[in-house]
Amino acid sequence: MSISPYGAMRSHGAGTLRTDHVGETVTVAGWVDTRRDHGGVAFLDLRDRSGIVQVVADPEASEALEAAHRVRPEWVLKVTGTVRARPDGMINDKLDTGEVEVAATSIEVLSEAQTPPFPVEDGIEVSEELRLHHRYVDLRRPRMASNLRVRSQVVSIIRRVMDRNGFVDVETPQLTRPTPEGARDFLVPSRLQPGESYALPQSPQIFKQLLMVAGIERYYQIARCFRDENLRADRQPEFTQLDVELSFGDEEDVYGIMEELFAEIWREILDVELPLPFPRLTFEESMRRFGTDKPDLRFGMELADLGAVFADTEVGVFKGALEGGGSVIAVALPGGGELTRREFDEWTEWAKRRGAKGLAWGVVEPGPDGADAPTLRSPLTKFMSDAEVAGVITAADAQVGDAIFFGAGPTRFVRGLMGALRVALAGDRGLIPDALAEARWEFVWITEPPMFDPAEESDDPTAATSEGWVPNHHPFTSPAPEFIDDFEQRPGEATTRAYDIVLNGTELASGSVRIHDADLQRRVFRFLGISDEVAQERFGFLLRGLGYGTPPHCGIAPGLDRVVMLLVGADSIREVIAFPKTQTGACPLAGAPAPYDEDALTELGLRLAPTPAKG
Ligand code: AMO
Ligand code: AMP
Repeated sequence: MSISPYGAMRSHGAGTLRTDHVGETVTVAGWVDTRRDHGGVAFLDLRDRSGIVQVVADPEASEALEAAHRVRPEWVLKVTGTVRARPDGMINDKLDTGEVEVAATSIEVLSEAQTPPFPVEDGIEVSEELRLHHRYVDLRRPRMASNLRVRSQVVSIIRRVMDRNGFVDVETPQLTRPTPEGARDFLVPSRLQPGESYALPQSPQIFKQLLMVAGIERYYQIARCFRDENLRADRQPEFTQLDVELSFGDEEDVYGIMEELFAEIWREILDVELPLPFPRLTFEESMRRFGTDKPDLRFGMELADLGAVFADTEVGVFKGALEGGGSVIAVALPGGGELTRREFDEWTEWAKRRGAKGLAWGVVEPGPDGADAPTLRSPLTKFMSDAEVAGVITAADAQVGDAIFFGAGPTRFVRGLMGALRVALAGDRGLIPDALAEARWEFVWITEPPMFDPAEESDDPTAATSEGWVPNHHPFTSPAPEFIDDFEQRPGEATTRAYDIVLNGTELASGSVRIHDADLQRRVFRFLGISDEVAQERFGFLLRGLGYGTPPHCGIAPGLDRVVMLLVGADSIREVIAFPKTQTGACPLAGAPAPYDEDALTELGLRLAPTPAKG
């Protein structure tokens, strides 16, 4: 016996009916999307996951008509009837089923519904709190239902590509010891070992490396990760990675497999052919040209370093910055000459809110009397030589009618500031092409990042305990060959064999070639202020494993939520997770987190300290 794809209660999906079905008796079931009751005749739009069809109840089927009078939006019905062509002029070309309707002979109410908290349609204004509280209704909206389906398709493409390439899906524990990825751990107290706790994994990092020691050679997992960190649009406390590790290979293997995977996803979901290979930028070049390691390459406006132009300048703020070993960096805004004085002031305030001392600006104008060389209209021009003005315009690649913004100060800070300004200006002026509408997918590998970041610049909660430096990626990342012997002597210069995939300004994936030598791993821990005893205590299982025959290995982990977010053009990963948490880590649907249960605490051997005020 064959099984109906629509379930035993139905003969067809509501959205599948076409003129071919005219004359057939069908049974459909789903939710009442809308109802138009004209007394003598009632129209219902019935919705299921395949789409919407119009149901008509007229006086010839009096019981059905009576039921149709009673129903309300979101009630669940089973309707039997005959498919008929809609009369001319009643065809609805907004619906795939718009040429037909089902003339009901019977309408059975399967479930009544309370008035929905918000209409089940796209593009409505509803607070996120309410949407999440009634997520089961929210997920009925076409957009949300479609997002979940795209996510499922992406997972199945991932499995196909990874399987084809010989990767083995292995599950790693959720109740485990801490794996540091720069966030706080979620802890789970143990009942059987009172006074002790498990940590939920920030990633399967250590276990996947041990799988390489174990000879799996090619591993992948669609892995749930847990991180107690401050949330943003692209961060959730639990999220999903495609976690990958391989042995006896290097960066090129990882690049090749990831490019094959992303090309296949983009081809199947969007019918877009990604140009391969993805371009590569070193971290240093990315910082210099874009002021960030997550460059958005959909538009130009590259940063211009004006150190040479202003080498002998009389402009006080620039001179001061350069003499102090810092930088003066410019970014040109095409068409920015239209900005008003007030708008320039607002950008200056914007920069000050980000810690800048100020922001200088100018507008490129034609030279006097139509001279060849354009000039700069700026509060600072009177302090600049003609050569400086010309140098600035050339370096910033600016045209007449453009604005040029200048930042001066410590190099790392000014690069970051001007990189953020570049994106903010372009966004504000509508200069960033829409990825989906214009098929602009600028993938890029960012390579050779620094081995360490200064601890004071880090939001890593473990930074406070380290000796001034924290890992830029994670402590299992191999230094570049030229730094293996002496990274301790020049930590600020050392780079690693790590790599990220960035797409349109969002970090999609991170990975690295790993340290496979236990002694080198201990040296990295020691340098981070983790003594041999502490390392043994926290990472003994890794260090022990590394001592039993470890192949060189490397890997990567794309964030699945972010991939799907970009594919569907959503502005937050909450739009592609069925049951996400709010910005404060709460689940309004389930009411999590919830107060402790006293008995459970007693059983766990725990007592609560006075609750700190909610922050
Ligand atoms: P990393 O910590 O860079 O690397 O994470 C890899 C990718 O996971 C995604 N991601 C997140 N997505 C949603 N919410 C979060 N809170 C969140 N945090 C990270 C991002 C990111 O690029 N073990 C290493 C990988 C490796 O070295 O193989 C790791 O976890 O898309
Ligand atoms: P001041 O010398 O502070 O009066 O600033 C003179 C001009 O330089 C003003 O337009 C300031 O906004 C600008 N300015 C001040 N500090 C900086 C800075 N660090 N970078 C760029 N411009 C600055």
